Amino acid sequence: MKNVIEQTNEHIMGTYARSSVVLDHGIGATVQDETGKTYIDFGSGIGTTSLGYCDEAWADAVCAQVRKVQHTSNLFYHQPQAELAEKLCAMTGYKKVFFGNSGAEANECAIKVARKYSFDKYGEGRGKVLTLVNSFHGRTLATLAATGQDVFHNYFFPFPGGFDYVKANDIDDLHAKLDDSVCAVMLEYVQGEGGVMALDQAFVDEVRKVCDERDLIMIADEVQTGIGRTGRLLAGEWFGVKADVTTIAKGIGGGLPIGVCLAGEKCADVLGKGAHGSTFGGNPVVCAGAVKVLERLAQPGFLEGIRTKSEKLRAALAAVDEVEAVSGLGMMIGITLKTKKAPDVLKACLEKGLLVLTAKEKVRLLPPLTISEEELAAGTRILIEVLEG
Ligand SMILES: Cc1ncc(COP(=O)(O)O)c(C=O)c1O
Repeated sequence: MKNVIEQTNEHIMGTYARSSVVLDHGIGATVQDETGKTYIDFGSGIGTTSLGYCDEAWADAVCAQVRKVQHTSNLFYHQPQAELAEKLCAMTGYKKVFFGNSGAEANECAIKVARKYSFDKYGEGRGKVLTLVNSFHGRTLATLAATGQDVFHNYFFPFPGGFDYVKANDIDDLHAKLDDSVCAVMLEYVQGEGGVMALDQAFVDEVRKVCDERDLIMIADEVQTGIGRTGRLLAGEWFGVKADVTTIAKGIGGGLPIGVCLAGEKCADVLGKGAHGSTFGGNPVVCAGAVKVLERLAQPGFLEGIRTKSEKLRAALAAVDEVEAVSGLGMMIGITLKTKKAPDVLKACLEKGLLVLTAKEKVRLLPPLTISEEELAAGTRILIEVLEG
């Protein structure tokens, strides 16, 4: 009989660069492979298991919902979806949501909202979405086209049109790309896959300003930065800015698939009956778990705790000789190395029992928001050992 790695490699399309580890079970920020070796997870999947592995309240809610009703079509109502939507709106200040199943789907919805808002008000010819160079917005054809990195604009021609790319933090380039065909500007406050780079305050302010002046939809892709990852519920709070549309995914599901497009007053009612849909979007099991994620984030001191833990981790990393710089916000951390290569660091960490990620040339960390002090200290020790080795 073939083992898991052989079965996978033989029967699953080879789209991922996987490490040769078969993860089996986990608790908190610690996960075990099938041989019994344990790893501290500084990646949370990729920023998804926000409450760690198998958080009790989350798992209880998910399991109870599976045994109650696991799915209803969106032609009916159900309680977990309604509760999650109400909680999300109350906590974020957005007016209405659309539920999909991934970050890319949330962004597809945001692009549709922006284009239809513009179409309804101004007619055809105003459908271009400006995104940023080095952004990442997903793997569907439209979100690949929205992604401002040439490496992603390959093989799958023709890509959908209607996107142009502004250099991040370049206000002149923003103005140069703004013309009468633009309906929206889409950005990540901290570019994740593009190398864990936070945008400048002045640039974010300018985007907000031109969106107001020109009646454009400002879309914040908070798929990676949202739901506590940066130590605030939404990263936009660090900038004192509220986008017209914000997308979230990853961490809100606690490990189950979900994507949410949050729309403010201006465009909450743009998508009416038949304008959009998803068979699984807002699934009761996923929503029941997501409610528990939000409840945890709302606990007094929880977000502050994330900021405290991240400051500790950042300070420890900044003191390491091999570290050139530490970027990002909160528990979204990029490490620029002086001499070592990020993939080599990842491999060495794996051998010593720590899971880390990479983004471009950096080592990237997205630990579970609930990581204990002990796990954080133990993981940091391994990482420093590897960096100093
Ligand atoms: C900022 C951002 N947007 C969108 C996506 C795509 O999300 P998904 O893989 O859930 O479609 C990602 C995934 O890494 C992301 O980081």
